[in-house]
Amino acid sequence: MAALLDPLGRRLEYLRVSVVDSCNLRCFYCRPGESCKPREAQTVLSRDKIVQAVRGAADVGIRKVRLTGGEPLLRSDIVGLTAQIAAIPGIEDLSLTTNGTRLAQLAAPLAEAGLKRVNISLDSLDGRNFREITRGGRLKATLAGIEAAFVAGLLPVKINMVVMKGVNDHEVINFARLTLDRDIHIRFIEYMPMLGQEETWQRHYLPSSEIMSLCSTVAPLVGLTGDNFYGPARNFCFEDATGRLGFITPVSQHFCAQCNRLRLTSNGRLKPCLFSDVEVDLLPALQKGENIQLLYHEAARLKPAFSETSPAALGASCGPRGMVEIGG
Ligand code: 5AD
Ligand code: SF4
Repeated sequence: MAALLDPLGRRLEYLRVSVVDSCNLRCFYCRPGESCKPREAQTVLSRDKIVQAVRGAADVGIRKVRLTGGEPLLRSDIVGLTAQIAAIPGIEDLSLTTNGTRLAQLAAPLAEAGLKRVNISLDSLDGRNFREITRGGRLKATLAGIEAAFVAGLLPVKINMVVMKGVNDHEVINFARLTLDRDIHIRFIEYMPMLGQEETWQRHYLPSSEIMSLCSTVAPLVGLTGDNFYGPARNFCFEDATGRLGFITPVSQHFCAQCNRLRLTSNGRLKPCLFSDVEVDLLPALQKGENIQLLYHEAARLKPAFSETSPAALGASCGPRGMVEIGG
């Protein structure tokens, strides 16, 4: 079947698969308005259905898959699921986004199962600040997870830091310095406004330009080009440094024109755009064992050119209700 092209001619090759809708941390920016009670879990797709969905994706030309959540490592069958997805012909790149809390135990078995790389969310290197941002998390667990990722060869290890003024912007320099003598990629992400969080966002939003200025106080930044397959970050390094710095600008500079991704929610809906309510439900077809290729084409057809509800379009207004349900 033909490759997956949207009406703008964007070739969709990247599927983000949310495998669970819960998380063991409660980062205030990700789960706005939530009390400290864990959410009730909804029905999530079984392992077989996820594998069936990714097989259908590979049939229409998806080459790159990222497992997300919630926190994907909360799934008890995550290693088996990873092995099955890694074995699907056509899937060239399989990665995972995690908060790292369970990675110390799981990095080695996941690498063995065929996982190539991990992105680890880490917003503070200070135990107290980490606990406040995550509303109760332990920094040590995530740091141990990062080390385990290196040992298991899940390279390059990428760290995602959501930078927020007055919360962790004073730590940007410490994060940037990590790249000096370690092959680590630090990705600084602009804080996106979520529904019901406009005021907090106004107070804490910091544009990438200012994050870059902070990094430049460590050493001059040298621009890197040429790895767009790996996403929307603009990449730099310090001269003679081992690691990299990436700047992701969902607010100050949207990247809709280059967007090559689709998302599958944990309950089986294809989302052509993170910032749109449009969905294509795969579940009925998965339950009946029907061919799902046409549904992928339908999702591609529905992909907006530029989302009018993306933070870039709205400035200070709202993004999706809960990133924890869609996986970022
Ligand atoms: N702004 C920016 N990134 C967010 N994430 C979740 N919520 C937000 C937000 N409001 C992303 C972070 C985190 C991942 C799980 O989701 O990158 O690392
Ligand atoms: Fe934090 Fe990620 Fe969990 Fe959201 S999904 S609460 S960002 S660890």
